[in-house]
Amino acid sequence: MSKKFYITTPIYYASGNLHIGHLYSSTLAWVIRNFKKMSGFEAKMLTGADEHGHKISQLAEKNNLEPQEFVNKNVEKFKLLWEKFDIDYDYFQRTTSESHKNFVRRIFMKMTTNNDIFKGKYQGFYSISDEEFLTSTQAIYKNGSYYHPVSGAKMEIISEDSYFFRIEKFQKWLENFLDKNSNFIFDPKIAKELRQNFLQKGLENLSVTRKNLKWGISLSQQFTNQTIYVWLDALFSYLSIFSDEINLDLPKEENFWNNAEQIVHVVGKEIARFHCIYWPIFLKSLDLRLPTTILTHGWLITSEGKMSKSKGNVINPLDLLEEFDPEIIKFYFSSQINTNNDSIFDKNLLENFYNSFFVNTLGNLISRTVALILKYFSSPLIFRIDYLDWIDINFYEKILLTLDDFCNLFNQFRIEEAFRIVIELAKNLNRFFDIKQLWMEKNLQKLSASLILVLNGIYAIATFLNIAMPKKINEILDFIGIKEANFRMITKLDKFNEINFKKLESPFFPRKKY
Ligand code: ME8
Ligand code: MG
Repeated sequence: MSKKFYITTPIYYASGNLHIGHLYSSTLAWVIRNFKKMSGFEAKMLTGADEHGHKISQLAEKNNLEPQEFVNKNVEKFKLLWEKFDIDYDYFQRTTSESHKNFVRRIFMKMTTNNDIFKGKYQGFYSISDEEFLTSTQAIYKNGSYYHPVSGAKMEIISEDSYFFRIEKFQKWLENFLDKNSNFIFDPKIAKELRQNFLQKGLENLSVTRKNLKWGISLSQQFTNQTIYVWLDALFSYLSIFSDEINLDLPKEENFWNNAEQIVHVVGKEIARFHCIYWPIFLKSLDLRLPTTILTHGWLITSEGKMSKSKGNVINPLDLLEEFDPEIIKFYFSSQINTNNDSIFDKNLLENFYNSFFVNTLGNLISRTVALILKYFSSPLIFRIDYLDWIDINFYEKILLTLDDFCNLFNQFRIEEAFRIVIELAKNLNRFFDIKQLWMEKNLQKLSASLILVLNGIYAIATFLNIAMPKKINEILDFIGIKEANFRMITKLDKFNEINFKKLESPFFPRKKY
């Protein structure tokens, strides 16, 4: 039985259109799922929609729609976007689905039975835009009002009966857990920040129900008809997809969640607190298995700062499709954006990258290799063991080393670094071509040996790129006569032994004038 791997994107608020920030998160999760699949795992990816809460109910009203109608429309748009970008997922969870709602009610009852829920009164600040409670010291005070320190949204003061979760009870446990699992939070910067801002100041119990909010998962009479706080609701979407297999009285029973070798949540840094502090505590309260990694990432920003629906400076991914193939965008995100930092996204950068890597480097490498083969050889280039004397062994080793390094980096989720060495390999192969002046080589056996090496390099690059751009790579592999992208085949030098090359009628990556 193959090993299991589970990765999730955040479930995005069904409050409007998604922008390229969301596309970035989903691309990351998708390429990691693809890599794990290619590495032999039964790898599954979940995405979905976060559909309850104050913000959504307000927006529905503004749009003159019932909340359910409003979220249904937005969820359709999400699914269409993933389809247009060829981001296929294994699970799509909606928080308004009956199975999810029932599961969340079940966990809430279980937490109550475990004595982790108590009745109290919430007095403090709430940001509707972030669906987040803050204390007066966490909020920013300006001209008589309080604002959210990260999003800048104006905060409401509320005072209402509420049920609380005993977060304080788990503080020591969480500190120990984070000490022992120093890779749980992917970015050490964020781990440090959370320790300083929350753990060291002392965690506070969390209000987990809302009294006057109808648009949420309702609770029974026993809880004075309150609804469940949208973050408690949303976090459990990662698990509720397996609700049929989860018995809260036997939390360690066999199911995909418990059997997965790794569980990874991809999240933007602004929601790290929910995933790194509350989520493990909620799971611990239920004695459920914890995730392995919270893969936090920075923001895509424009020159005006972070993109956000509320700021109105968003870049619509569908607009980009008018100019770029979705796979080019996904490869750009995977190879040019470092997860730990904020990065400016600008169409010009994408255009430059397309021309420099796809047109001038990879496209050029493929077309010059095939042209040279067709010029001198009319039958397949058959690898012979004595070619090893001619083949630049350093170069062959470089290809093998790239394979090792690539997989190591990817397994650590250092995606951008992994793809960077692939780009380096492509540049080096072009350099090899130039330094050896292959087009001048008159000894056809030597030429054949070098071309076999270059073809193997192209195959290796195609295999790595397949993770992010399977459609285009399929075309390329088809053209070079190999059926599939497979890491193990990279080491085999004789895989072109029976391939008859044909003329390349049009380049895989046409030069574009922008
Ligand atoms: O927070 N750059 O949903 P959301 C990079 N429903 N990533 C960005 C981004 C940007 N500029 N803007 C958004 C929620 N994202 C909750 C999540 S999970 C149980 C509940 C990405 O619609 C990033 O992953 O506000 C961020 O965390 C997420 O979208 C927020 O999406
Ligand atoms: Mg947000």
